[in-house]
Formats: sequence, C-alpha cells, structure tokens
Amino acid sequence: MNTTGLEALIEAAKQARSRAYAPFSKFQVGAALETEDGQIVTGCNCESASYGLTICAERVAIFKAISEGAKQAKRIVILANTETLTPPCGACRQWLWEFGQDMEVILVNLDGVSANYRLSTLLPWPFDARLLS
Ligand code: THU
Repeated sequence: MNTTGLEALIEAAKQARSRAYAPFSKFQVGAALETEDGQIVTGCNCESASYGLTICAERVAIFKAISEGAKQAKRIVILANTETLTPPCGACRQWLWEFGQDMEVILVNLDGVSANYRLSTLLPWPFDARLLS
C-alpha cells in the first residue's frame, strides 16, 4: 500500500491486529510502520507455544519492512484493545530506534483514543551503531 495518511496507517494496524496469532495470551496487537518513502508495512504479534519465542507486532513489522528493502521508518502506529494505551516493550523500543531513530510512535486503541510520543521519550540514551565505532 502506498499512502501516507494517518487514518490509513491506523486502519492498516487494525487490519493487522485482526490477524494476530495470539492463542496463548489472547492479547492481540497490530502495528503499521510508515517507511521513509511512504510505504505502509504491517505486523501482528505471533505467539509460540514455547512462550519465549513470541514476537511482538512491532518487530514483525520492522522485519517485514527490512526484508522488503526498506531502510528506515518515519512513524509507527501500535494498536491494541486496551483502555490504557499499549506501549512498545523494551526489545521493540530498541529495534524501533535502530530502524527509525527518534521516530513518531502513535498508540491507539479500538475506541479511537490515541497518544503520540517521540521514541526518545520512550527510550532515552539508546544504544546504537554509533557506539560501535
Ligand atoms: N505485544 C505486542 O505485540 N506488542 C506490544 O507492544 C506489547 C505486547 C504482544 C506480545 C504477546 O503476544 C502479547 O502481546 C502479550 O504480551
């Protein structure tokens, strides 16, 4: 899909959430990344019977985007059906930083409640490639 509107991003995250594979937690999450060139790439959480191999919706979206040739993301919508908005876990914050630095993170629920954050407020003092040199 090639569109840059926020509504389209939210709709894509909603669709992705409906495909969540969450038989263990029943906690369904959808994510929609907007890449640097305006592509939308979605992800849903994928759970494993081993529990520990579960992957969050955000990282599924990032890995899909990378495998499709994207280099960077501008923003991400994370959507869950919770009254208190669902923020990305620590592992996803790290990956989001490495794939988009201080990107916009938009948390949304099914009632249309939303909140916007800069990733640097969710992940202050990040570790990244600059520190490897
Ligand atoms: N989960 C996500 O996909 N993204 C988040 O931001 C929080 C947690 C998933 C992982 C697991 O499948 C379920 O939600 C419960 O933790």
